[in-house]
Amino acid sequence: MKGIILAGGKGTRLYPNTISVSKQLLPVYDKPLIYYPLSILLLARIREILIISTPEDIEHYKKLLGDGSRIGVRFTYAVQDRPRGLADAFILGEGFIGKDSVCLILGDNVFYGQFFSTTLDEAKRQAEKDGATIFGYPVKDPREFGVVEFDKNNRVLSIEEKPQEPKSNYAVPGLYFYNNEVVEIAKHVQPSARGELEITAVNNEYLRRGKLRVTLMGRGMAWLDTGSPNGMHKASSFVKAVQEMQGFYISCIEEIAWRRGFITTEQMRTLGEELKMTEYGQYLMSLAEETK
Ligand code: DAU
Repeated sequence: MKGIILAGGKGTRLYPNTISVSKQLLPVYDKPLIYYPLSILLLARIREILIISTPEDIEHYKKLLGDGSRIGVRFTYAVQDRPRGLADAFILGEGFIGKDSVCLILGDNVFYGQFFSTTLDEAKRQAEKDGATIFGYPVKDPREFGVVEFDKNNRVLSIEEKPQEPKSNYAVPGLYFYNNEVVEIAKHVQPSARGELEITAVNNEYLRRGKLRVTLMGRGMAWLDTGSPNGMHKASSFVKAVQEMQGFYISCIEEIAWRRGFITTEQMRTLGEELKMTEYGQYLMSLAEETK
């Protein structure tokens, strides 16, 4: 399975912070926002990853992440010249996806919770077999999101984008697993009233084909909002609080690459030494020490 991180857009809700810097490069406590969705792909053992951003910002992502060899993965880059909608990722990514299945994650979505790796493995396995897996997450006010309605057996009944009268309180987070049909489906999506190629239109087509599954995320799972300065601040506070309490880092991409066996302990130690002036670097070095 391939992975795509969509990290474009204008980030207008965070102006002036994002006038000259891409939103997904802003810090959430001690690391750039994009590390959080990237870590989800690594947890799902996805090692070929396409990063999509704007013409102005793409070079910054290349500088930050390089070709991926440092963490044992492969990054490719593509430019989206204007925010045409989330489904555009599969059109821009057609050559990259090839005949494979694909996971799309939005570059500003932060997830954290126990047993999430198992959930990801299952979603990946199902989509690879045949179809699509999306997630449902309970929120107080779902009107700003895609909203999924399902029956008592968790069979999807409907999915709507930003409905005024939501049929459930389950929002659809920005994490989607698809088989290869997604490329052809995305190409046939028509722009919505707001002029975008909606991911919800893609999911509706899977629903029509009887191939859309929803996995519910429980309340023990954190899906953090980064849509406003307040949301960014709260996400940073959450990461800081958990890391200080546990001593484990959230979404440390080098650590996950190491635990997944993409890099050796020695490689991780070297990456840590390069950053040894920071607590982040010292954390990597301490992990390498512990396994001696
Ligand atoms: O966060 C989950 C929600 O994301 C879903 O519940 C919705 O169904 C889905 O449509 C999307 O809703 P938003 O309206 O919040 O998406 P937004 O336009 O804010 O874009 C999400 C991120 O993707 C944002 O960081 C910018 C980036 N983006 C967006 C578009 C439309 C791109 O890189 N390219 C694009 O063309």
